[in-house]
Amino acid sequence: MKDLLSINQLSQEDVLSIYQIAKDYKKRYKNGEKKFTDLRGYSVLLPFFENSTRTRTSFELAGKILSADTINISSSQSSVKKGENLYDTIKTLEAMNSDFIVIRHYMSGAPHIVAKEVKSRVINAGDGMNEHPSQALLDGFTILEKKGKVEGLKIAIIGDIMHSRVARSDVKLFKKLGAHITICAPITMIPRHVETLQADYITTDIEDALKDKDVAIFLRIQLERQSKVFFTSLNEYSIKYGLNQKRLDLLKEDAIIMHPGPVNRGIEIQSELVYGDRSLILDQVENGLFIRMAIYKFLLEN
Ligand code: CP
Repeated sequence: MKDLLSINQLSQEDVLSIYQIAKDYKKRYKNGEKKFTDLRGYSVLLPFFENSTRTRTSFELAGKILSADTINISSSQSSVKKGENLYDTIKTLEAMNSDFIVIRHYMSGAPHIVAKEVKSRVINAGDGMNEHPSQALLDGFTILEKKGKVEGLKIAIIGDIMHSRVARSDVKLFKKLGAHITICAPITMIPRHVETLQADYITTDIEDALKDKDVAIFLRIQLERQSKVFFTSLNEYSIKYGLNQKRLDLLKEDAIIMHPGPVNRGIEIQSELVYGDRSLILDQVENGLFIRMAIYKFLLEN
């Protein structure tokens, strides 16, 4: 395996192997080992054609902790702004002997095109509405860490399913690990051919979705991808689909809530619940670092 483009590429054994590497890095890091040499002599280029805080920073920091040379390339400050196309941009980066290219792109499938064209290892850091494999890996790792297992858990994914690459990768990953998946969205945000997502249950009723679940994952309303109106107003969305205390109480007593971020506070999740007792949002961010270190190492070893 040269690249990590989709959860489809990973077997359950691969996922557990990435988790073992991440767990080991996390333990050593927490014990004070702040620098590793696994990527010494390697270069990591990070062309991001869409904005990011968590993914870009953690892939960059993960590379630095592993002793790689890392370079951020923001499309707004690159020759993309002068009209250079994706192919020429990527061939240029490859010519600088990049060992890893971590790419985020607004076009679904862009990392797959890039991977075919370059010898560098390519990591998909989110492509359009298609996939966000490293996010799914860190989500699964965070659940495993908190719950001790993923198999048999009841997980609800709520929100803008239609535009969400996180939902697409999460469902694939959680199914691979044996969870039962409910997806919930307003009818206008349930994608056509939703059955291809292979969720176990689909509903437009949030109370139905949350009842007796172990995990509830709330998705960001992706206003930047919505060319049409999918609900009357953000306030209406919040009333019908936002997490509040009453809805939180429908979950199992020891249930956890998650969100890939960035959160639209007060819309997907009531503001005071964002970092509340049941929220693992900051654990997700922290684990993102170790999962991304593990992804580099896994690709090197494979
Ligand atoms: N979850 C996620 O992809 O966040 P960023 O857009 O900040 O990277």
